[in-house]
Amino acid sequence: MSMTTSKIVEKLLSKVDLASLIGERVKLQRKSGYTVGLCPFHNEKTPSFVVYPRSYFCFGCKKSGDAISFVRETQGMGFVEAIKWLASKYGVDLPELEETSNYKKEQDLGKKLYSALQHAHIMYMNNINLPMGKEAREYLHGRQFSDKDIKEFGFGYAPRGKSVYEACRGLGLTDSEIIQASLSTGSSGRYYDFFQDRFIIPIYDSYSRLVGFSGRALSSEVLPKYKNSRETPLFNKSSILFGFYKAKEAIRKGESAILVEGNLDVYRLWKAGFRGACAGMGTAINEGHLKQVSYFTNKLYLILDGDFAGKKATISTIDIALKVPDLNISVCVLPSGHDPDSFILEYGSDGFKDLVENHSLDLVDYVVGEVLKGATSLEIPHKVSTSILPWLSRLKDPIQRSYLISRISDITGIDAGELHRQLRFVMNSNQGYTGLKRKVDQNVQEQKPVKKLTIELTPLDREFLANLFLLSSDDDTTTLIQRIQEVSSYIRLDESWSVFIKEIISILRQGGSPSDSEIYTKMSSYLDTRVVSFIQWVQKNIKAFTGQDRKLAIENELKEYKKRYYQSEIEQLKMQLSSNPEDSLTILQSISSLNNEIKNL
Ligand code: UTP
Ligand code: MN
Repeated sequence: MSMTTSKIVEKLLSKVDLASLIGERVKLQRKSGYTVGLCPFHNEKTPSFVVYPRSYFCFGCKKSGDAISFVRETQGMGFVEAIKWLASKYGVDLPELEETSNYKKEQDLGKKLYSALQHAHIMYMNNINLPMGKEAREYLHGRQFSDKDIKEFGFGYAPRGKSVYEACRGLGLTDSEIIQASLSTGSSGRYYDFFQDRFIIPIYDSYSRLVGFSGRALSSEVLPKYKNSRETPLFNKSSILFGFYKAKEAIRKGESAILVEGNLDVYRLWKAGFRGACAGMGTAINEGHLKQVSYFTNKLYLILDGDFAGKKATISTIDIALKVPDLNISVCVLPSGHDPDSFILEYGSDGFKDLVENHSLDLVDYVVGEVLKGATSLEIPHKVSTSILPWLSRLKDPIQRSYLISRISDITGIDAGELHRQLRFVMNSNQGYTGLKRKVDQNVQEQKPVKKLTIELTPLDREFLANLFLLSSDDDTTTLIQRIQEVSSYIRLDESWSVFIKEIISILRQGGSPSDSEIYTKMSSYLDTRVVSFIQWVQKNIKAFTGQDRKLAIENELKEYKKRYYQSEIEQLKMQLSSNPEDSLTILQSISSLNNEIKNL
């Protein structure tokens, strides 16, 4: 159990009056100094169920536990669920558990911010049709966007001043909320609008929710050219693919997915019939962007502006692409000085179509070509060993390395076997270096604060869950499943894992094997991401789990869980000995009973 969890449990249990909690279900009485009642866990006529300040113990059926296990057992709740239930019942404030109430607060704030953005958007769209919006409107006409486009794309105009701030105040929003929506800036009484004298483009997330704006300067003298909303609770710049909310529908219907650099390029492409176009938000392309696209298609055209050479197409783009292997990426570079907007205005839709269909290159060919650009045939081997092999040596997946080697061999004419030999050499001499890097990575991970209430897996948990996952239906699992259910209340894991265990049990019951690829792929789509990465970890380390009697291993692991639970009970009882000397006799009896239980496991 992680520190956080045991602290939460400790804090909660110290606030719970166990006798009154249990008293709600079991008639308790004081008998020669003890609080006793008829055991709720087995049938009995004379009371042998004893309730201590912090735990209970039945001398008949040997059930023991604390407030959390009582709630779990009697109300069928999971561990975390029971904690939450008790915390709210006893009014215990658990900031560590704030996850849920924070979520609620975030939701309320989110709703306010959305409505502020929507209100601002309506004002902007209205302004562009007023005399104050004349310059913006004319600017857009000059760029070949009609009044109809302006309306359809939701373009607007933000004037100087603080009209949006004042409107939001009128809606009942606080200064802090208006600032959090990135609609205004300033401090204590002196606020002004974030967007000043700019033409406004709305930004939607992939669920079509308005999350921010991009404001373009109306003249080239004003800098920056584009001013985007600050990062807000709704607007996460690096995860947004501009226009994807619309593009994905077109892509779903079979249009090509096209990723470009600029906002207005997207509208130009939509207008020219390329409805699958979207753009980054001026940030570098990342794995999240590609993942989003890969849910809808396995082919993406990456369109680079003609001045892209200066910004460099790097090998890191391939690294990112390799993380989304489902997506085939083709690269298309526009003629120098052009972006998709200007290219289409000059060469039309057909010109663009021809470019994409007939002049695009596979990403690997493109990047390797860029790296080798300008090298004479004699310089190529040197460039390969100085720029390409070190990169290949950093790739973890041997199959990817192998595949890329054959590609590079095709491109450069260097023998693939020779490339393999050289790569092995580079990798061997790299070893010291990669070790060092791993250390740095670990530090980075350690600094990351874990905010969610999650229970870290102990080595025992990992072994137990892995063995369970690898169980197959041909073992007779009926008795084992029963045992698991008996012991489940001694296993302290959060809901994600309980759900995982329940899933496995139901699969086994139906005669399936959880580790069948079809079954776990399906499971992966609805299980918690931690569980999914755990499954991947098990599959990578499958060798460590083969060749043992899995059922026996699980039986032993269940015993170990029970043993640990009893041990922690004993620790608690020992603590009670000093604070409740008058109960010492029964407490000592309980301890010895529990010790016997452990012996008999
Ligand atoms: P570009 O400089 O290529 O502009 O930036 P553009 O899209 O062609 O814009 P127009 O045609 O001159 O109006 C590409 C993208 O980078 C981001 C914007 O998202 C822009 O669309 N960018 C650019 C900014 O965020 N801020 C800037 O100052 C410039
Ligand atoms: Mn442009």
